[in-house]
Amino acid sequence: MPHEWDSPEYVRQWVADGDKTDAQRAEQITALVGLIRSSPEACIEVLDLGAGYGIVTREILTAYPNAQVVCLDGSAEMLKHAKARLADWEDQLSFAVANFDFPDWLAALPANSQFDAVLSSRAIHHTVDERKQALYGEIFQMLKPGGCFANHDLVRKPDDTVHDAANPFGTVEDQLAWLKDIGFVDVECFWQTEGRALFGGYKSG
Ligand SMILES: C[S@@+](CC[C@H](N)C(=O)[O-])C[C@H]1O[C@@H](n2cnc3c(N)ncnc32)[C@H](O)[C@@H]1O
Repeated sequence: MPHEWDSPEYVRQWVADGDKTDAQRAEQITALVGLIRSSPEACIEVLDLGAGYGIVTREILTAYPNAQVVCLDGSAEMLKHAKARLADWEDQLSFAVANFDFPDWLAALPANSQFDAVLSSRAIHHTVDERKQALYGEIFQMLKPGGCFANHDLVRKPDDTVHDAANPFGTVEDQLAWLKDIGFVDVECFWQTEGRALFGGYKSG
């Protein structure tokens, strides 16, 4: 069933179910945020791409108490939950509603935005491969030297023959190759389990 991220009831239920699995996800989200190479006291600027209800942003702000984070999501409903959950950090947050399946998502960000890190969790997998590649290039342009892009996401197994608009998950191998082609360095898959992976790379400093 396709996601209904614009439906308040669907989103409310998804967030409630997400809370039940947060304990298992905590380790993965900690590993994602742990890929940022800045010192903990640094005033880093981070983009949480497909931020949802803010689980990644909360971890960023816990690990980097001086961080400024942009939470970007296509669902205004999801961002309502994020705003409520992250209210203690409101001075360090901004929110943007945009669909990264289209290049004009960049217009939702402040002009000339540059980030120390762009992190994403379970959001990009529904984007078709061709667009994923372009998106990774757009992210590269927005990173400061030394900046990090890391994605914790659903991936396609190499022997999985189903790969179409309804199942556009990319393989880890393809995605690592795209990142290297774009110019990312230290590109790696940091861990992988059945159908999920944490991978990314850095812009040379
Ligand atoms: C499964 S939730 C994950 C949310 C959060 N990152 C987490 O790990 O809990 C996926 C989120 O990505 C957002 N999303 C999916 N495709 C998107 C797109 N093309 N543009 C913007 N947001 C998108 C959805 O609105 C949703 O909030």
